[in-house]
Amino acid sequence: MRFDRLGHTCVVGLQWGDEGKGKVVDVLVEHYDAVVRFSGGANAGHTIVAHGRKFALHQLPSGVLRDHVMSLIGCGAVIDPAVLLGEIESLRSRGVDIGDRLRISDRCQLVFPYHRRQDVLAERIAPAGGKIGTTSRGIGPCYADKVSRRWGIRLGELYRPDRLRERLASIISHKNAYLAALYDDRDPFDAARVTREYLEFAEQLRPYVCDVAAELSGLLASGKRVLFEGAQGSLLDIDHGTYPFVTSSTTTAGGVACGAGVPPTVLDSVVGVVKAYTTRVGEGPMPTELKGAIGQTIRERGHEFGTTTGRARRCGWFDAVATGYAAMVSGPRVLALMHLDTLSGFDELKLCVGYRHGGKTLNRLPAEAYTLSEVEPVYETLPGWREDVGKCRSWGDLPAAARAYVEEIGKRVGAPVGLVSVGPDRAQTIIVEEPA
Ligand code: GDP
Ligand code: IMO
Ligand code: MG
Repeated sequence: MRFDRLGHTCVVGLQWGDEGKGKVVDVLVEHYDAVVRFSGGANAGHTIVAHGRKFALHQLPSGVLRDHVMSLIGCGAVIDPAVLLGEIESLRSRGVDIGDRLRISDRCQLVFPYHRRQDVLAERIAPAGGKIGTTSRGIGPCYADKVSRRWGIRLGELYRPDRLRERLASIISHKNAYLAALYDDRDPFDAARVTREYLEFAEQLRPYVCDVAAELSGLLASGKRVLFEGAQGSLLDIDHGTYPFVTSSTTTAGGVACGAGVPPTVLDSVVGVVKAYTTRVGEGPMPTELKGAIGQTIRERGHEFGTTTGRARRCGWFDAVATGYAAMVSGPRVLALMHLDTLSGFDELKLCVGYRHGGKTLNRLPAEAYTLSEVEPVYETLPGWREDVGKCRSWGDLPAAARAYVEEIGKRVGAPVGLVSVGPDRAQTIIVEEPA
């Protein structure tokens, strides 16, 4: 697969997040001039491992480690300034200076402390079965305020202190009343203090804030190559995911146009990232979840603990029905298949190829989460392999059973596998020359 010939490309997760998007962006970025985040916020956690050094990025695009790359954050993303500035500082302390290479849209909505509190309290009082299992980063309340239009504040508004003071005073008085009435919260926010704090953030962020749509338009016009970095996974998409157990943004490839501010026709390709099995963090249906020893083995071998919250990820067999649905919506030209090494050592592997529900077989992801929670997976069984594949560097190095497993996933999901990852390190990557 010639990844240098994909053109303007979007990297998007086709499961429930944590597929390995950070690593894929890091591998592809040598062919690009700019990387753009277009959705989500500090709920994301993208890991890059290079030369034995590990970096976990939450809001910054995964191109920041490369000197030649511009990093942009489009208006579809939400910004938590304290977390973002912390990330920039933490990179600087490790020798990565972002310098003049970061641009953040003045149209990004801001996460405020009351969003984080609202997120936590809403989860705390949710009835049984009603918890989402959010990351507690204030993401849902922030996007809800954006859509309400009454309570959202955009990054650009920080540069009008007179207006900001007025708006925050009114919004915070509303939020205090709301939190007290609904959640019996007795710790009101001080509007003057929050305003002061955000005005300080504004000064620190000033060099980076601009009109990202205009900036991108200029980059595209001058022939620069742009990589769009999805956050979360397609099954967490607010519309196409397993609603209501989803995040609050558009995580599918369609989010690129609105979230970055580029015409939809700009995108030449989509790279769909999938794990060789399934993981999910938080609540919500997951038909192939393995609650016993096999799930535990995958979790331990794959180090399946959240990058953002440290929570143990739920693990299960690959679900070709759910992932196939995600592929239908995002339209990958090619798949990047991650964590193949984690599956070494099993006698056999299972792929979910259908769901049994009410005496019928479903071949497509149902719309309702409660229906999905009732289905029984229909499995195809494939032979496993014993060899450690972590040192394989070409398609031919992989055991035949591993190649057959990868090919079957490509066939079931409906796109060829062009990249196979056999470990977290940048070097542990196989480019499949001629994907089947
Ligand atoms: P993202 O949110 O999609 O960027 O994924 P995360 O970074 O949250 O989670 C993926 C985890 O798997 C990270 O710890 C990566 O370092 C690690 N990882 C990525 N690819 C591989 C792989 O092929 N094998 C193994 N063992 N780990 C991997
Ligand atoms: P990356 O980009 C995995 C999940 C949460 C929860 C649901 C809603 O690293 O793949 P939210 O805080 O967004 O309101 O939580 O979505 N979630 C993720 N799961 N990877 C992520 O991001 C996620 N971002 C959100 O666990 O179930
Ligand atoms: Mg992650």
